[in-house]
Amino acid sequence: MAFPESFLQDLKMRSDITDIVSSYVSLKRRGRNMVGLCPFHGEKTPSFNVYTENGSFYCFGCGVGGDVISFVMKIENLDYTEAVKFLAQRAGLEVPQDSYDNSMSMLRKRVFEANREAARFYFDTLYSPNGRRGLDYFHSRMLSDRTIRRFGLGYADENWTSLCSYLRSKGFKDHELIAANLAVKRRNGSGVYDRFTDRVMFPIIDLRGNVIAFGGRIMTDQKPKYLNTSDTPVFKKSSNLFSLNNAKNSGTSVLLLCEGYMDVIAVNQAGFTNAVATLGTALTNEQAVLMKRYADEVIICYDADEAGQKATARAIPILRNAGLLVKVLSIPSGKDPDEFIKSKGSDGPAAFKALIEKCGNDVEYRLQKLKQNYNLDITDGRILYLENAAKVIATISSPIERDVYTSKICSEIGVDKNAFKQQIANRLRRSSREADKKHIRQIQTDLSGKNDKINIEHYKKPRSSSAEEALLVYLINNPDSYRDISSQINSGEFQNSLIKRYYEYVADRIENGLEPLTNISADFSSDEVSKLYQLMSQSIPAASTPEALREYINVINEECSKLNSNDLSSLSDAELRVYLDKIRKSKQ
Ligand code: CTP
Ligand code: MN
Repeated sequence: MAFPESFLQDLKMRSDITDIVSSYVSLKRRGRNMVGLCPFHGEKTPSFNVYTENGSFYCFGCGVGGDVISFVMKIENLDYTEAVKFLAQRAGLEVPQDSYDNSMSMLRKRVFEANREAARFYFDTLYSPNGRRGLDYFHSRMLSDRTIRRFGLGYADENWTSLCSYLRSKGFKDHELIAANLAVKRRNGSGVYDRFTDRVMFPIIDLRGNVIAFGGRIMTDQKPKYLNTSDTPVFKKSSNLFSLNNAKNSGTSVLLLCEGYMDVIAVNQAGFTNAVATLGTALTNEQAVLMKRYADEVIICYDADEAGQKATARAIPILRNAGLLVKVLSIPSGKDPDEFIKSKGSDGPAAFKALIEKCGNDVEYRLQKLKQNYNLDITDGRILYLENAAKVIATISSPIERDVYTSKICSEIGVDKNAFKQQIANRLRRSSREADKKHIRQIQTDLSGKNDKINIEHYKKPRSSSAEEALLVYLINNPDSYRDISSQINSGEFQNSLIKRYYEYVADRIENGLEPLTNISADFSSDEVSKLYQLMSQSIPAASTPEALREYINVINEECSKLNSNDLSSLSDAELRVYLDKIRKSKQ
């Protein structure tokens, strides 16, 4: 069951897409549309378009698109019914009760509840006689009880069923505990046991204050050191950050990006509440874009070891691409932030503050790393350093910034500025040529549809698919033409099964007197919704004339009758009937 149509129409009318998008993205008018920096992928020039007239959005950079409901689903990480409720609340509309299928929302709600209860249980265990080991461990790592409480840390005891029994007594069902990844099915199939045992527990809390997952650390040298909640209906590790819920209220526009839970907590205890960490994975674009929503600058505070330095090198372009200023903290003597702060005893906070104050930006960091590789006392070493430094400087987009580093390096090494500038200019030309080529290749593959993971059949049947796509878009933009179109064409003639599904869906709604796309986010996957809006936003005015329409119908008819006998075996009964009809007609 879906929400009543009239309710959805009302909801959409009162949820102006520009208003809603504007609370997340700063939009500027460009012609009839609004454009801004896409909140779903990192970019520096805007390719995120909002179309006020039909209440839709589409990003030409990452291909995400949809209506106001799919926008809210994506940006707030909600499912369909939750997004509808979110918008209804915003618009002051009452949601009709029991009118929709909310089994997924119900499960998500139960998973949130189970997680909350679990976090409480782990916390209570920590301060019970059973939790002695855990509490001693945290104290040995210099965490105060205040810090433990602030982060809601806990302990999963040695018993394999403590949490399961407790949550069952609170009315949770095994399938809900499994969905939350708090419990695991026994191999022999009978019952479940706790996912986390004998570990200190770190709850992960989202921006609305929900407990969405846990990390659990073993207290010995055994492996794995950390065990994390796998992805669940409420948790995707690549799109969340540990402690962003605290950091977003820290009152600064700077975030400290750490490697792990303990670093974030130690840094917090030292007085810096703006720290976050990824959750056991390398930094993703999604996380960088998320940080950009709350900050302008990120200071990378990764471990000083080799792994940490590699991760730093990978993180820099991801953060830069999201439009963030990047600085890199350098921690002396191979430590992570937690170890560094601890090693300074009561001076820890002040010492860490001093590190932050003297940390350089990403370019300085890269140049300094580079310098370590060359012997600048000999001519060859200096030449190689300068050649590679030119490469680094050529990645900077601001000419002023480039000039500052150029002068600095030249006076440092003692070379003529003009010669070095020449070297950089060559590099810039080369990378701009490479970028152009890459862009052209990208456009070519996009046009060929070869890499299209959603509309996979387009590449196999480009001619019929293009005509079917254009006809579909025409119909969506001109629902009044449905009678005319349906008298000349039948969905059975569509050869691209995805486009056929869209067409049948739209046709069915028009036949029932409904707007074609009001409910699209409920009935298609989010990738399919994006694909449809991509087709719509790529159509040009010349493609929606009656002449163009006739051409689409001709091509579809023609391609359909071209089907040779080899293809016949793969046709469904309905398709076969259409095919035979065609042949009969053409013989008349
Ligand atoms: N991590 C993980 N699984 C592991 C090891 C690490 O998910 N088996 C993740 C955790 O999020 C951890 C982060 O990677 O916080 C950094 O790992 P590491 O540097 O090894 O741990 P620390 O944060 O230094 O933790 P501790 O100080 O407790 O050893
Ligand atoms: Mn550590």
